[in-house]
Amino acid sequence: MEKRFKRTTVTSALPYANGPVHIGHLAGVYVPADIYVRYLRLKGEDVLFIGGSDEHGVPVTIRAKKEGCTPQDVVDRYHTIIKNAFAEFGISFDVYSRTTSKTHHALASDFFKKLYENGKFVELESEQFYDEGANQFLSDRNIKGQCPRCHAEGAYGDQCEKCGSTLSPDELINPVNALTGNSLVKRPTKHWYLPLNDYQQWLEQWILGDHKEWRSNVYGQCKSWLDAGLKPRAVTRDLEWGIPVPVEGAEGKVLYVWFDAPIGYISNTKELCDAHPEKGSWETWWKDPETRLVHFIGKDNIVFHCIVFPTMLKAEGSYILPDNVPSNEFLNLEGDKISTSRNWAVWLHEYLVDFPGKQDVLRYVLTANAPETKDNDFTWKDFQARNNNELVAVYGNFVNRALQLTQKYYNGIVPPIGELTVYDEETLAEFKDIKEKVENLLNNFKFRDAQKEAMNLARIGNKYIADTEPWKVIKTDPERVKTIIHVSLQLTANLAIAFEPFLPFSSAKLREMLNVEKLEWAKLGAMDLLSAGHQLGTPSLLFEKIEDATIEAQVEKLLATKEANKEAEYKANPIKPTVSFEDFEKLDIRVGTVLECENVPKMKKLLKFKIADGLENRTIVSGIAQHYTPEELVGKQVLFIANLAPRQFKNGLVSEGMILSAENWDGSLSVTSLLKEVKPGSEVK
Ligand code: 2FM
Ligand code: ZN
Repeated sequence: MEKRFKRTTVTSALPYANGPVHIGHLAGVYVPADIYVRYLRLKGEDVLFIGGSDEHGVPVTIRAKKEGCTPQDVVDRYHTIIKNAFAEFGISFDVYSRTTSKTHHALASDFFKKLYENGKFVELESEQFYDEGANQFLSDRNIKGQCPRCHAEGAYGDQCEKCGSTLSPDELINPVNALTGNSLVKRPTKHWYLPLNDYQQWLEQWILGDHKEWRSNVYGQCKSWLDAGLKPRAVTRDLEWGIPVPVEGAEGKVLYVWFDAPIGYISNTKELCDAHPEKGSWETWWKDPETRLVHFIGKDNIVFHCIVFPTMLKAEGSYILPDNVPSNEFLNLEGDKISTSRNWAVWLHEYLVDFPGKQDVLRYVLTANAPETKDNDFTWKDFQARNNNELVAVYGNFVNRALQLTQKYYNGIVPPIGELTVYDEETLAEFKDIKEKVENLLNNFKFRDAQKEAMNLARIGNKYIADTEPWKVIKTDPERVKTIIHVSLQLTANLAIAFEPFLPFSSAKLREMLNVEKLEWAKLGAMDLLSAGHQLGTPSLLFEKIEDATIEAQVEKLLATKEANKEAEYKANPIKPTVSFEDFEKLDIRVGTVLECENVPKMKKLLKFKIADGLENRTIVSGIAQHYTPEELVGKQVLFIANLAPRQFKNGLVSEGMILSAENWDGSLSVTSLLKEVKPGSEVK
């Protein structure tokens, strides 16, 4: 941290409390934020880590309507689930509150009032979609219609989920109320806008000029917004769920969720400091120029945290601005975008049940594969490989060898160090600057690389033990082994420190095995962490191998989701144009009994039938071999079209009719049959 700062306020995006959280949330925001905060605390810096649930907004109301409960019920449920999941993963918030709290309503309301009274908003009237039946204006998400781009039905007023286009409700063809299907009219309504355009120049200087050090994805996104030219943004909405707009004539209007949510960081700080005066005043954490503000977010939040919120803070006038906004890109899952609505996610509360006690494994994998500079993919195979080949085979293996050898040779007591060989000196030199390296990377929000450095320490340790072969040397030069084990144990203790911000649970376990309560970050890289004669604790395995069957079960679970989604997304083909009764009568549909059925050589899809049709037997060829075996059909009665013109196949086979089958949503075929047996040749009418 640069000298001019005395303390750091770290915020992490407030997740919407309209569903549980998944690995994408953890990888994108909460693990990196937690690593950073733990690191600052280990360095003894003054830091607050602010979290909470974002409980307003339209998605909450939509969910409540669907579930037949109140929005408050929805957010109560998910706030608890989310809060618990974060706690289980060791996300070490100083406060995790919510935007429905009294403190937040009051603070957000006052914030708006101050801007309003100081003339910081512009009031504009515009025509918006209104549902006369329901007596309400509709938010973009609550409007559905045909997509003007791909012409899919069911596109939302803000986005078409089929082709991914960003839309505005005005562009939809035949817009209706998404929930009820009611048609809509346009009505004028007044809203308050933050005139971002007035801040354009200032933002250009502050971001593009003064914050060139921001991550290139963040800087680049800001630049393209600024290059496009900023426009006023509405900060109020016609909605019931939210914080009422605190000015006269604003009945039925609430603050836009993106106006109140970031103020939630401030409210939650206030709630914490009010309850714990020893933390200082909340205003110190938000208004003192010696406080450094850092926002951890995902890439879909960049514009709000780099442009809109700073403009709000600037307009208010008494707040500090963010010093950095480390934003990650997205994490995909097995090649597809993570999606709550399609249940394409690894949910944290489910992971905790399926992998009890393995929180650090997920923390490790998500950091090793963090989407810091580009979107990345989470796969269960990679999860398994990183656990088995890195945590178990490198880190766990080294620690286990060092501790087991100490048990075996010295009853778990740290042996004294003797004379160092050139090789020892070389090993020590290799990790002498570990602290500087890790700190440099963490200071620059390079969490992947920083964790790699920690793992490198374990690699050095493994190589050291493999090269020095204490199990052989013990027979020839026992004094030398004391030095080898002593050095290995110092390395082990260093690992507990280096991994502390990343894998806090494992470091705690390792400290227990080393029988030390505390290891100072400042001592990272030192060789006197454990003194000769110190009694170690009982060794146990730091990590366990994850078996193929466990991973296959997770992959199966995802495959089942994919199937379920296909079924849910299946839409029956539209009914064909009407035909006259006379035309219908032209089709001669009959019942036939299957006398014989066999596969057709070299034609994988075909079955050849001999059908009793009441007059004489006929041959019908049908493309259902991938859905039935011949034995399943012999003796069955089927429906077939008896007067279809004969059709010849490439191999010369001729089909005299067509057996009727139904095609299921997944493409599987089901042959039609009868509820009661009839004479072959009976007509179907
Ligand atoms: O994208 C989201 O999940 C938002 N709920 C983030 C809000 S961050 C902050 F402004 F509160
Ligand atoms: Zn579309």
